[in-house]
Amino acid sequence: MTGELSPIDKAKFVAAKRAVDYVKDGMRVGLGTGSTAAWMVRCLGDRVRNDGLKIRGVPTSTRTAKLAREVGIEVVTLDEAKWLDLTIDGADEFDSELNLIKGGGGALLQEKIVATASDQMIVITDAAKEVGMLGAFPLPVEVVPFGWQITRSLIEEMLNSVDVTRRDITLRMDGDLPYVTDEGNHILDLHLDRIGNARELAVALNQIAGVVESGLFIDICDVVVIGHGDGRIEMRDINEGTVEYDQLNFEDSDNLFRTMLE
Ligand code: A5P
Repeated sequence: MTGELSPIDKAKFVAAKRAVDYVKDGMRVGLGTGSTAAWMVRCLGDRVRNDGLKIRGVPTSTRTAKLAREVGIEVVTLDEAKWLDLTIDGADEFDSELNLIKGGGGALLQEKIVATASDQMIVITDAAKEVGMLGAFPLPVEVVPFGWQITRSLIEEMLNSVDVTRRDITLRMDGDLPYVTDEGNHILDLHLDRIGNARELAVALNQIAGVVESGLFIDICDVVVIGHGDGRIEMRDINEGTVEYDQLNFEDSDNLFRTMLE
């Protein structure tokens, strides 16, 4: 990667950089997937290499596992870790209750398992992902390949009885072939525009045979760290009901930036 970061990348970077301050020595940490989470893994690797931070990381995808190893983080499986102190991950959308849509990067299943096996989940994001109501981002649903077209029909039928604005479903592709997740499944993207009751939809999806998991993360996220392109950071804790603000000085992070951009 070379050149200057875009404002959106700066926003993702500052959110990621601030979020790794939550990580303490000895923690078992869930490592999310996606471009924001990749910044977090790099920042965490920086602390491991330069500050001697001792942690074990549980990645949520093969991509993240590779990056984590490259930056010097000890990688263990979730079963080896048994339970996690903290998971830090990105999101595609979040609302005021910190309910999320995730899975734009295709890793929603491992992400949800890892997040729910953690004492705390922190979401790192840029401000553009905050919505009044979830659903503008197509909702990813992981389905088993066997009979996936039947599963799609059953989802279509179910959607007629829930409060959504649109009901289009597309099979996620990887070139000419269906996208295959790390678990060997496919992803259906549900184009709903607006989800009136995300909790109800999450339950309804999980009752359909063939659905493995949906990208609706309800009552899982505890803290959201929102970055801005000018270095401002907002941290909202839904359990404590607190909002804190911070500012990251890009000049102070210049060396880290440069190393990461090389
Ligand atoms: C990966 O499956 C997703 O859940 C990502 O966390 C989400 O798509 C956010 O990705 P970016 O940080 O790349 O926007």
